[in-house]
Amino acid sequence: MTRILITSALPYINGIKHLGTLAGSMLPADVFARFQRSLGRDTLYICATDEHGTPTELAAAAAGQDPATFCAEQHAIQADLARRFGLSFDHFGRSSSSRNHRITQMFAQTLWENGFLEERVTQQVYSNADQRFLPDRYVIGTCPHCGYDAARGDQCENCTRVLDPADLIKPRSAVSGSSDIEIRDSKHLFLRQSLFSDRLRAMIGAKQGDWPLLVTSIALKWLDEGLQDRGITRDLEWGVRVNAADWGPNPDGLRPDAEGLAGKVFYVWFDAPIEYIGATWEWADAQAAAAGKGPPAASEWEKWWRAPEADDVTYVQFMGKDNVPFHTVGFPCTLIGVNERLDAAGQWTSANPKPWKRVDRLKGFNWLDYYGGKFSTSQQRGVFMDHALELLPADYWRWWVIANAPETSDATFTWEQFRAQVNADLADVLGNFVNRIIKFAEGRFEGAVPAGGEPGPLEIQLAKDVQAKIIELTELMEAMEFRKSAQALRQLWVLGNGYLTEAAPWTAIKTDPDRAAVAVRTGLNLVALFAKVSEPFMPATAQTIAAAVGEAFPGRWPQGQGALEILPPGRKVAAPEVLFRKIEETQVVEWVARFGGAEPAGS
Ligand code: 2FM
Ligand code: ZN
Repeated sequence: MTRILITSALPYINGIKHLGTLAGSMLPADVFARFQRSLGRDTLYICATDEHGTPTELAAAAAGQDPATFCAEQHAIQADLARRFGLSFDHFGRSSSSRNHRITQMFAQTLWENGFLEERVTQQVYSNADQRFLPDRYVIGTCPHCGYDAARGDQCENCTRVLDPADLIKPRSAVSGSSDIEIRDSKHLFLRQSLFSDRLRAMIGAKQGDWPLLVTSIALKWLDEGLQDRGITRDLEWGVRVNAADWGPNPDGLRPDAEGLAGKVFYVWFDAPIEYIGATWEWADAQAAAAGKGPPAASEWEKWWRAPEADDVTYVQFMGKDNVPFHTVGFPCTLIGVNERLDAAGQWTSANPKPWKRVDRLKGFNWLDYYGGKFSTSQQRGVFMDHALELLPADYWRWWVIANAPETSDATFTWEQFRAQVNADLADVLGNFVNRIIKFAEGRFEGAVPAGGEPGPLEIQLAKDVQAKIIELTELMEAMEFRKSAQALRQLWVLGNGYLTEAAPWTAIKTDPDRAAVAVRTGLNLVALFAKVSEPFMPATAQTIAAAVGEAFPGRWPQGQGALEILPPGRKVAAPEVLFRKIEETQVVEWVARFGGAEPAGS
């Protein structure tokens, strides 16, 4: 049987995430993980906070904390929000963990010894006032092309020209504003990505038609533009140290300049994807600790990542489109480079008896916007996870975000559309159905699943329609078509409502109690079914619904016939509190005022 390994792009440590981040990675990954588990598949869903890099250092400094303390606090906040959103990570790790440090250093050493790293001396901007090197975008000055006076060293925001900090007129530090800056030589490691072009093209080619077009087209665009070798180290304090003293010679017999590289750290985009593996090790640590055991054997976590034990693993990655290049180029180069060597004749040969696993299925997403504009962390424009939970339970958000997943194009959140859809789908269709039928069973059948009566043509037709819809939904979920899956699920709820309206047990009870019994029994079985198939989307609601009809939670995904023969006659049922409260227009007015709405014209 296939095992399923799922990772969602690691959220940056600084700042609470907005709905857009949730939509593009963590939430669909969670829905998929829950679906896979409900099919009974051995599933591991891994995520972590992405903690290194200059923005973290600066955010920590702004908060008056050292990066380690800042990250520990922020991680706890994000972990708590994720839990309250029902994100069912098997482990939510941290890229600053000792496990990630260890694997990152080991991979870098192997890349060196396999001949895929090169040392180069580069010119970096150093700020005397800040006593630190400044990454390009933290150098600002006047654009030589358009005269914009706050152009960043990597790109001018005004005329969009790509820049080098040395191009800027009157350059200064974005950290302190000081113009006491100079250019210094600094030695760095470069990953020779250009060597991997053909390998990557073959990999992407093989995935065309299988991976979303969005993903393969972004990857091919990068390859078509020509892969550049990439600097994978930085002059920073906070990160995974480059510790090259123990590295062996590369294929040319050269050892790295350990001294020249001392004091540098790996680039955040080098160590972040490696944390997918690091967090799996952290997960194994946590499992062992929970069982009162010592550190786990390597095989406990490597079985998800290294051949041959991981040969039965299907590895699925989730991410927003901006992350696609790093996962179709950067990280695959790292993994190919630790698995293989390239000989002088241009042949790739295996260099690792237990090669590391690469992605099998990559699901990328477009943007979820806020009123057609960007969610903005700095301007606090849009809905963030903490505020969202202040307003409404997680399932309202989960439903709306998945039903509007930005799969084939960008999608937009507006409060008006959110209200309309939540009220229609959740309150009017699902919530109404569940309460209507259970209340009736309570009133007329002593709160138990009635026995008696035989299914008639209505029930036979319903069973066929339900069966067909479940097959459609299951196929869509396997295909990771989330928006269409939500539509199919809603259609299943609608089938239930339509059936109940037609079977009308409230009328039948007056003349034909057996007919009413059949209709109520069927309706209650639909409730039980809805709990099972809604669980990946809205786990808290599904749990409430399951409890209302006495079913175990989480249930198994329906497979085969008998989707409407779940509840034994006599099973006690009890209507839950109102499942979904309708969102009022006045609430929308209030929330638009608080969080921002359509941008005023001309802004
Ligand atoms: O774009 C982002 O939010 C990054 N923190 C994603 C990292 S994904 C992975 F490679 F770690
Ligand atoms: Zn410019």
